Amino acid sequence: MLLQLDNVQKYFNKKATVCEVDLIVKKGECVGLVGESGSGKTTLAKCILGLEEITSGQLLLEGRPLQRKRDRTERSRIQAVFQNPSASMNPRRKIIDTLMEPYDALKLKEISFLHNTTRIEKAKQLLEMVGVPADYLPKYPHQLSGGQKQRVMIAKAISTQPDLIVFDEPTASLDVTTQAKILNLLKDLKENLSMSYLFISHDLAAVRFMSERIYIMKEGRIIDEATKENLFLKELQPYTKQLISAFGDERSERLL
Ligand SMILES: Nc1ncnc2c1ncn2[C@@H]1O[C@H](COP(=O)(O)OP(=O)(O)O)[C@@H](O)[C@H]1O
Ligand SMILES: [Mg+2]
Repeated sequence: MLLQLDNVQKYFNKKATVCEVDLIVKKGECVGLVGESGSGKTTLAKCILGLEEITSGQLLLEGRPLQRKRDRTERSRIQAVFQNPSASMNPRRKIIDTLMEPYDALKLKEISFLHNTTRIEKAKQLLEMVGVPADYLPKYPHQLSGGQKQRVMIAKAISTQPDLIVFDEPTASLDVTTQAKILNLLKDLKENLSMSYLFISHDLAAVRFMSERIYIMKEGRIIDEATKENLFLKELQPYTKQLISAFGDERSERLL
C-alpha cells in the first residue's frame, strides 16, 4: 500500500469539506477521484499534499504516518500538478529555473532515470521526456502555450522521482485535443517511471481513461467506488449513474 487515508476529515469553520474519507492508492496504480465542483476534491488533494492540516483521521505513506510538516524525502515522494499551469509559474522566472526548483531546493544530485550530468543537461532531458524542445529552457512562461506550460509542470513533478503524483484537474484549462495528448503522455510516463497517480477531475471520461479504480465524491464524502471495467456494470449509487449519464456523450466515447 503506497498511500492510505483513514477516516480523514477537514473542517472549515465547523463545516465538513472532507468527511470520513477512506481511500487507498496501491503501488503502480492510477486511482481516479471524480465529483462535481465543490465536492471537496481540491481540499482532499491539499490534505494529501500537506498544504492543509487535516482536522482528524490519518494519512499513511507506506504504513508510516504522514504529518502536515514534511521532511525533504517525504516532500520529494509526493508531487502535484494543478489545473492552471500559468498560476503555478512565476512569470519572471525562466522555464529552466521553474523546472529545476525541486532539484535546486532538495539539493538532488542524482535523478536515476537521467544521465548524471550537469543541471542544464538534466533540465533538457526532463523537457524531452514531456515533449517540449530544449530551446524553451531560457524562455519565459508567456512564450509557451498552455499545453507546453502544463508539460513543464509535469516535468517538474517527475524530477524528484516521486512515488505518487496528485493531479488536480490537470487538463481542465486546456483545449480538447491538447487534453488528450497530455493524458496519453501521463499514461506513458507512469508506465516508464513506475509511479502511482491520484487523478482528480470533474470529467468522468478523463478519469475513466486514466484510472484503474475510481472513487466518486459528493459533498465531502466518498459515496461510491468502481473499477474502470465495472463502472457501467456494477450496482452503482444513483448519483454515480447520474454522473455517468451526464457523460454519455460523444466526447466520453472518444476518450474511452
Ligand atoms: N480555505 C477554505 N476556507 C473555507 N472554505 C473552503 C476553503 N477551501 C475550500 N472551502 C470550501 O470547501 C468546499 C469544497 O471546495 P473544493 O475542495 O475546492 O472542491 P472541488 O475541488 O471539488 O471543487 C467549497 O464549498 C469551498 O467553499
Ligand atoms: Mg477543485
